[in-house]
Amino acid sequence: MTESEEFGLVEPAEAGTPGDEWESIDVTDTEADRIARKRDRKFDEFRKRLKDADQFKVEQSVFDDATFAAIYKLVQDGHIDAFGGPISTGKEANVYEALGPEDTDVATKIYRINASNFRHMRDYLEGDPRFEGIGNDKKRVVLAWTQKEFANLERARQAGVRVPEPIAVERNVLVMELVGLVEDRARRLAEVSVENPQTAYEVVREYMRRLYSAGLVHGDLSEYNMIIHDGELVIIDLGQAVTVHHPNADEFLRRDCRNVAKFFSRQGTDTSATDLYEFVTDVDADPTGDPDVDERDAGTDE
Ligand SMILES: Nc1ncnc2c1ncn2[C@@H]1O[C@H](COP(=O)(O)OP(=O)(O)O)[C@@H](O)[C@H]1O
Ligand SMILES: [Mg+2]
Repeated sequence: MTESEEFGLVEPAEAGTPGDEWESIDVTDTEADRIARKRDRKFDEFRKRLKDADQFKVEQSVFDDATFAAIYKLVQDGHIDAFGGPISTGKEANVYEALGPEDTDVATKIYRINASNFRHMRDYLEGDPRFEGIGNDKKRVVLAWTQKEFANLERARQAGVRVPEPIAVERNVLVMELVGLVEDRARRLAEVSVENPQTAYEVVREYMRRLYSAGLVHGDLSEYNMIIHDGELVIIDLGQAVTVHHPNADEFLRRDCRNVAKFFSRQGTDTSATDLYEFVTDVDADPTGDPDVDERDAGTDE
């Protein structure tokens, strides 16, 4: 499969207030937990229907009642109309296609509470000021993680990085824009032959820099977490992304640079991890992610 499009950069969004996202983070008791506890007849019927649906059959054991309740809440709130098939079953989460309001397609990422490597999650959360005091409880960690991915997507989007638009988050379930079409799925960069790797590289490099200047480091960037569809290159999987405060942020960034430079070098682009790192960090990282402050620091007139 060949992608021959131009990978146009997206325009940065209007100034917002990214960096304030911790204010909305609540991992104590969610509406979904309350629904699961109450178990009224409507929820019971919904849960039964979902459990019996083909695409969930294999997953029965991994989704607990509160996860079904989170999905139920997202349906009630109008974010999901119906479930399609699984796009991916990963180590920590499954991604499903779903039908959103007004015939839009959405992607639904469901994190498993019993994720085996939740210790690895905690390592990324600790040191991120947005998630102070998250503790050791598995459920709290996974819920914080899911909300972190939502907040990271929003912050990235506002910084002008093309990511799936975050739509809603409920407990351990994240709803976002589906990149690509149900009948024509977006491909990971690793799966396509990139016809103009130089252009693609320049776009990725600019996105990494914008992310950094908004105070974020992706932390798992490679050809497996970039997808392309219809000439657009989209960065995905921001669950582990940390703020530049994180004690390992620099190490994560250097690793991202190595992965990305290695991939594009193989495609014939003249680059190195060091070049890329220097390009990305040539701007001031603004830990608050506030675009206005950023401009003042850069000394631009306005
Ligand atoms: N918003 C989306 N639109 C289209 N495909 C997606 C979207 N999000 C994820 N995917 C697909 O699902 C796969 C797994 O998603 P990802 O967020 O990378 O989760 P994981 O943590 O399991 O790697 C991706 O490689 C991609 O193919
Ligand atoms: Mg991934």
